[in-house]
Amino acid sequence: MAIDGVDPSACILDAFRASVAQSVSEILGIPINEAFNTVDLGKKGVDFTVAVPRFRLSAKPQELLKKIEAQFVPTEYIERITVDGVFVHFHSQTRKLNRLVLDQIYTLSKSTNTHRFGRYGTNSSGAGRKVVVEFSSPNIAKPFHAGHLRSTIIGAFLSNLYSANGWDVVRMNYLGDWGKQFGLLAIGFFKYGSEEKLAESPIMHLFDVYVTVNKDVKEEEAAGLSTTNDEAKDIFRRMEHGDKETLALWQRFRDLSIEAYKKVYQRLNITFDVYAGESLVTAKSINAAMDRLRENGLLKPAYAVDLSKWKMSKPVVQKADGTTIYMVRDIAGAMQRFEQYKFDKMVYIVGDQQDLHCQQFFKILELMGAPYADKLEHINFGRVQGMSTRNGEVKFLEEILDMAKEAMLVQMKTNEDKFSNVEDPDLTSDQIGMTCVKIQDMQSKRINSYPFDVKRMTSFEGDTGAYLQYAHVRLCSVARKVADETVLREDVSTIDTELLSEPKAREIVYHLATFPDAVRMAMRVSEPSTIVTYCFKLSHLISSAWETLVVKGQYSELAQARLYLFTCARIVLASAMRLLSLTPLERM
Ligand code: ARG
Repeated sequence: MAIDGVDPSACILDAFRASVAQSVSEILGIPINEAFNTVDLGKKGVDFTVAVPRFRLSAKPQELLKKIEAQFVPTEYIERITVDGVFVHFHSQTRKLNRLVLDQIYTLSKSTNTHRFGRYGTNSSGAGRKVVVEFSSPNIAKPFHAGHLRSTIIGAFLSNLYSANGWDVVRMNYLGDWGKQFGLLAIGFFKYGSEEKLAESPIMHLFDVYVTVNKDVKEEEAAGLSTTNDEAKDIFRRMEHGDKETLALWQRFRDLSIEAYKKVYQRLNITFDVYAGESLVTAKSINAAMDRLRENGLLKPAYAVDLSKWKMSKPVVQKADGTTIYMVRDIAGAMQRFEQYKFDKMVYIVGDQQDLHCQQFFKILELMGAPYADKLEHINFGRVQGMSTRNGEVKFLEEILDMAKEAMLVQMKTNEDKFSNVEDPDLTSDQIGMTCVKIQDMQSKRINSYPFDVKRMTSFEGDTGAYLQYAHVRLCSVARKVADETVLREDVSTIDTELLSEPKAREIVYHLATFPDAVRMAMRVSEPSTIVTYCFKLSHLISSAWETLVVKGQYSELAQARLYLFTCARIVLASAMRLLSLTPLERM
């Protein structure tokens, strides 16, 4: 029996679903694939549900239901069915479920894998396909604002997610490292720059210089002058024509900034395969892009493309003086990237302020006849409102991370006993702080905007990052606490999983079994919140099980079975957290 997309070796629930499909297909005489596609995960204690009207058969739903009820015979996987309205609910054989689910999680966790988040949960649906994920993309000499923070967090997750779905992923940072502002920055650096400060904290120093020189521009403007501005334009023009001296300075700004960014990204568990940037879009690609635009009759006077037919106005692609702008760099950049990577897909993780910009350059590429135009996707997200603290506006990623870390440290110190057991309080508080910052960002649908709120980022109460870390720590500590009486048996296949007879245990096992589904679902909708929700549900289930599923002091076989369950829960929670780009902690 071959069903498309079914792979019990990666997702054991598929075996149960296939059994449901088999029964339904035989009873109603419909193709197995069709039957399989209607098998949904159930709700509230139900394992699977089939909505009968979805078959679009001529017989009335009630008749179909009766038929299924009358003819269903229990299988190796499915024990019984219940009907409700137009739905048929399928209940799995608990013994089979416990055995297969836990063994799969454990075995896969032992197998070698190329993912940092563990094999269980992953699938190979994207095998052989390459995706370029462009994210973070801050601008040199400008603040790393909330939009960049969100892009960084969501992008890190989505690139992991693609990888978990079998894709070959290129993680790309597209720096804002080109444009007239670099002419201005060069002037500013000659006037106000300090080599010392540049070496010490390049991001901050360049920003300060940029702010100061901008003040000069404003003052001149007020006096009816534009000397600095004109000079900046001139320098940038020279840069675009390859002027060695200014380019050397610019190159240093870029290199030092990247080094500094790398440190912060490392703190966030993020690495990039490529530091691309607006500056690296070559003159050759830009000329080719302009030629294509012209050849296709798309270039209207003033270097604009008329997209009003699609209600996308008339974006300008290039300046009259021939210098390049953001728009043409995105058009030519896509061409260049396709040539280089031959991607099957490219996603841009950029805030919704740039919805129109993305629509425009995607459309322009389509009109130019780019064969990859339909492979581009803009993954957008809502804004963060009011990004400021008591000390003023937050400008840099590091400030946010430091703030979260401090708050965590204070909290951790309230429990002296535990605190004394934490090996590296500095690193631990940093990791918890980071988890909080990331979770508060990813816990609702990405299109939702949210207020910038220090409390929200640093709270230990409710569904926060700290709570997830705590749930993981607790799962680690259960094994530590019973270590003198129970150590998980090496050959887990001899552990008697039938002893996990409590409804609570079953609920946990079932939820563990749905992790591969959560990974696929998250992929379908490109939503981090799917995985965050999964993690919270798992953590809640576990925290409500400690009293019923005690390990310590139980007879050996029972202790083994329960420890096995908690071990698998820990493996899955850790994988899900890693997928979210978090580092699960063992103590806190
Ligand atoms: N650096 C840009 C900004 O800060 C974001 C870049 C988005 N990516 C792109 N290909 N346009 O607004």
